Amino acid sequence: MKHLNKILNGDVLKVMKKIPSNSVHLAITSPPYNVGKDYDSHDDQMNYQEYLTWLNNVWREVKRILVPGGRFCLNIAPTGITEFVPIHHDFTNQFRKLDMKFRTEIIWYKQTMLKRTAWGSFKSPSNPHIVPSWEYVLIFSKEKNKLDGEKEKADITREEFIKFSDGMWNLSPEKKRNGHPAPFPEELIYRLIKFYSFEGNTVLDMFGGTGTVALVSAKNNRDFIHIDVSEEYCRTAEDRLKKHFGQSKITSEDNSTFKSPSWLLKNLIVSLN
Ligand SMILES: C[S@@+](CC[C@H](N)C(=O)[O-])C[C@H]1O[C@@H](n2cnc3c(N)ncnc32)[C@H](O)[C@@H]1O
Repeated sequence: MKHLNKILNGDVLKVMKKIPSNSVHLAITSPPYNVGKDYDSHDDQMNYQEYLTWLNNVWREVKRILVPGGRFCLNIAPTGITEFVPIHHDFTNQFRKLDMKFRTEIIWYKQTMLKRTAWGSFKSPSNPHIVPSWEYVLIFSKEKNKLDGEKEKADITREEFIKFSDGMWNLSPEKKRNGHPAPFPEELIYRLIKFYSFEGNTVLDMFGGTGTVALVSAKNNRDFIHIDVSEEYCRTAEDRLKKHFGQSKITSEDNSTFKSPSWLLKNLIVSLN
């Protein structure tokens, strides 16, 4: 596929239309949460109904491009402490209407409670606040539960499988990276990729940001497709991939000659603006 192992700089809907149907095994993303975050080139404060309609169009494309049995992992946090917005319920209902199978939800416990300040009525039941110390990863699959793949291409260890199948994941959040307000921690993506895909599968992030999904996919012998509207974040993603694979060339542990992936030698960023 033309767009495999590329960083596609452009608008999500415009770019996804170029990806062939039934060609992606796993999509992982965290969309803009519409909470006024300071992204490079995206208005993160849309009218809520417009926001949902926009993303519903993205979800339609997700369904089209996934292979039967392909998975979609959607990371989303509960938003609004005083005015709670059940955004995860709204997304779940959108997917159910699209006839995607809702498989499960993983709770990502971020261990950030110590830093909280928004108590509401402190030490009084008059109006106390719950501060979300967690995010969700909602898991959907297309048409069927089972993803076809060869047994030899399952590369998760026994210990990892047992650990990851417990749906409460305790992981610290990632710090801001190169001005990006919401990068994924690599461990979160590692777990999703190992648990839900085979070696050699294609993994997409359609709101790819600083390229965590692309990097972890490439490190684990999966093909990646990265989409983001911001040229700056696409450059950060490219730097991370080049830095990692450039370094491995020098520090290959078993002294075998490290073979650079062929995609690294070509232009990684494709502008589709
Ligand atoms: C929550 S962040 C994703 C961060 C990413 N998971 C990471 O590890 O860096 C959402 C991303 O969506 C991108 N974005 C917003 N609107 C977009 C659009 N219309 N098309 C493509 N990307 C868009 C933003 O630039 C931002 O990088």
